[in-house]
Amino acid sequence: MPDRNVQARKKTIKHREVMKSAFPELARLECDQARGLPRGPLQKPYGKGDAGLELPKPDPAVLKKTDLFACIAGRESRRSFTREPLTLEELSYLLWATQGVRKMRTPAVTMRTVPSGGAMHPFETYLAVYNVTDLKPGLYRYQPLDHKLARLPAPKDLPAKVQKAARGQASMINCAVAFIWSAVPYRTEWRYLTEAARLILQDSGHMCQNLYLACESINCGTCAVGAYDQKLADKLLSLDGRDEFVIYMAPVGRADIK
Ligand SMILES: Cc1cc2nc3c(=O)[nH]c(=O)nc-3n(C[C@H](O)[C@H](O)[C@H](O)COP(=O)(O)O)c2cc1C
Repeated sequence: MPDRNVQARKKTIKHREVMKSAFPELARLECDQARGLPRGPLQKPYGKGDAGLELPKPDPAVLKKTDLFACIAGRESRRSFTREPLTLEELSYLLWATQGVRKMRTPAVTMRTVPSGGAMHPFETYLAVYNVTDLKPGLYRYQPLDHKLARLPAPKDLPAKVQKAARGQASMINCAVAFIWSAVPYRTEWRYLTEAARLILQDSGHMCQNLYLACESINCGTCAVGAYDQKLADKLLSLDGRDEFVIYMAPVGRADIK
């Protein structure tokens, strides 16, 4: 009987490779950008008949704290929230802070509120909305180019499915809205091939950190969620698990500060 711990250690050490940079190797490989292939769309299309739901313009009027020092010093992972709803203006601000487009560098390249290796921006933001004013509970996707929400079909038992996908974590349903981010890896692989996996994971950290700090600034809270069930999470969002898959999650609600 092989020692399971020895096997696990071997596998774990092999997995370390994804964290290492092998940029010089890229020179020997030919990426799709070098072959002149198109980079693919910056965001997914709306569903049939859906023109998207306009979000309020991001507005600093939502801020409760404008002191960056206080936001950084006060940041912590928050897993319990009050029952108070989030306003649509606050949700708009959080979406802008995590994926909002600041300007177009070219018609195919967005510059956003978060950095991204090569400005590839490989993420889609899905929302399980439970308690947001003027927004019907359900499943949505943020469309950063238009600052709109695309409406998505949701299962009747959406909260139960989200909690199961998050391996039972109650914070993902006891919140006002749950952010679920997917990666579309080709957006980064188009130029960075074998380096893309590392860059995408690094990108995701920046995005979630902006959510943490933006939440602090409106007296809300969040918590990074990396312990999810890949298959269930992908199924929830009807993702194929190959060209798009869930990469991170985060519940958001009004901070329950005792
Ligand atoms: C990549 C990552 C994954 C995480 N996954 C989870 C998770 O699945 N569930 C959870 O409750 N907290 C999760 N956390 C939150 C950490 O437990 C938390 O950041 C850590 O305990 C430090 O606490 P602080 O954020 O309050 O400083 C995660 C944090 C990171 C950065």
